[in-house]
Amino acid sequence: MFPHDSFRDYIRDLERRDLLMRVRRLDQDAYEMTALSYRLMDCLGMYEAPAVLVEEVRIDGEWRRGPVIFNHQGHWDTEAIVLGLDPVPNHGRETYRRAIDHVLGLLDSNGGKLPLIPPVEIARDAAPVKEQLYTGDDIDITRFPFIKSNPADSARYVNTGSVFTEDQELGKNFGTYRCEIKGPRRLGVNPEPGQGAWKMLMKKKERGEKQAHVSIVVGQDPIVWVISGSSVSKDGTDELSIAGGFRGRPVEVVKSETNDMLVPAHAEMVIEGIIPLDQPMLPEGPFGEMYGYLGLRKSENFYMDITAITCRKDPWILNQFTGVTRGFITSPLEGIALARLRKFQPDIVMMHSPVEATGLSFVSIRKRKPGQGLSVGKAIARFVPISKVVVVVDDDIDVLDRNQVLHAMGSRWQPYPASEIIKEARGMPLDPSSPHRPMSSKIVIDATRQWPEEGGPDPYPELNRTLLERLAPESFERVDRFWGDLLQRWRR
Ligand SMILES: Cc1cc2nc3c(=O)[nH]c(=O)nc-3n(C[C@H](O)[C@H](O)[C@H](O)COP(=O)(O)O)c2cc1C
Repeated sequence: MFPHDSFRDYIRDLERRDLLMRVRRLDQDAYEMTALSYRLMDCLGMYEAPAVLVEEVRIDGEWRRGPVIFNHQGHWDTEAIVLGLDPVPNHGRETYRRAIDHVLGLLDSNGGKLPLIPPVEIARDAAPVKEQLYTGDDIDITRFPFIKSNPADSARYVNTGSVFTEDQELGKNFGTYRCEIKGPRRLGVNPEPGQGAWKMLMKKKERGEKQAHVSIVVGQDPIVWVISGSSVSKDGTDELSIAGGFRGRPVEVVKSETNDMLVPAHAEMVIEGIIPLDQPMLPEGPFGEMYGYLGLRKSENFYMDITAITCRKDPWILNQFTGVTRGFITSPLEGIALARLRKFQPDIVMMHSPVEATGLSFVSIRKRKPGQGLSVGKAIARFVPISKVVVVVDDDIDVLDRNQVLHAMGSRWQPYPASEIIKEARGMPLDPSSPHRPMSSKIVIDATRQWPEEGGPDPYPELNRTLLERLAPESFERVDRFWGDLLQRWRR
């Protein structure tokens, strides 16, 4: 099925692979969808829970036809499926490694850069997203099953839209920013300061422009979704061309109705509008944010007046339970980051930031000299905003396995002297613990075996498992051969 041209193609593929839970109807006035998303995490965790498709949802007292989908890129296997690879059966971490290797391979075969395939424009009548058109008084965004995700959120939100903007100086951009539903024809638009759309809107303001056109794409194909929610393009490279490069085939686009922007033609919906730049802004939020905490209410934020909605007949709506489920696959971003980091720190083997504990980053190194654990960790803490707690381990530890990392911390780390606190570095603007957002203090934990020159024991005790492998080399092979099937039945 790869590449998936549309959101619904991808969801159907997940169903075929038994990675989709179908639920007939949920009452979101009683927050059943929200509680289900938490329960799935309680039972299965972020990397094992299936996608969920809810056929009908009660919103504001009315049952509305969906489907509404959530957690569509949460399961380990989706890391491979989105990229057109086969998952390694029953092995999430190996599947993830396969996806990372694929991304490294793409970069390698293209001189260190992501391959680019520019989008192609198709005719309006060939574009599924143009099946229905609403303009003028017929526009009513509230009639679609966008939900209020948390009881303390200020409103219902379009919280998975890719906001497309263009600027004569800065070029093109799209990013996923939450949009508060303010009325039938009005949405909040929330690019945080420094984000692509924010820079464009501020630039237009500076030049004295009165308004900005926006097209918001909902129900994107799975690769456009990944590119939209992560800063894969840092140097202004066209993000749709990057998506094409990952797909190995161009993204088909079509012109918006009320502006000239080209948007994915196979999306579920496009909401077009105008952001006034010469009017006072409006309050927005609060909203349950990525760290799992309620965000701050903003006293003023951008908003847009909707000028047109185009959509498929009965559009499929994607909701993101931010801070509860994984939002998107991370192997593309981590693969790119790994390739960049290895240029400056060639001894880095692997790096991973587990989504269930935003703020933590685990990195393994091929340690060659004393002090290297701390120095690699400090470089990451200073340059990667999301890395607040950096744990450095030896290369015999698999950083994708949380238990191995915790075991190394418990057994190899001496807090003194193998730690360093950085008083202030760039952190994440949404970190609820930060007194001066976006700045943050940081800690580097060197959980590599400390060498004698670093004050470590001489000789360093050996791991029991390593001794077993050395002294009884056939033991694992025998167990796998004779009792592998039995183990398979008990595998989580
Ligand atoms: C579901 C979801 C919601 C998001 N909401 C916001 C948001 O409201 N504001 C924001 O600035 N970034 C938000 N992000 C993160 C941005 O999408 C991400 O930083 C992206 O790189 C922004 O694109 P840009 O780099 O082109 O600005 C969200 C990401 C996801 C996956």
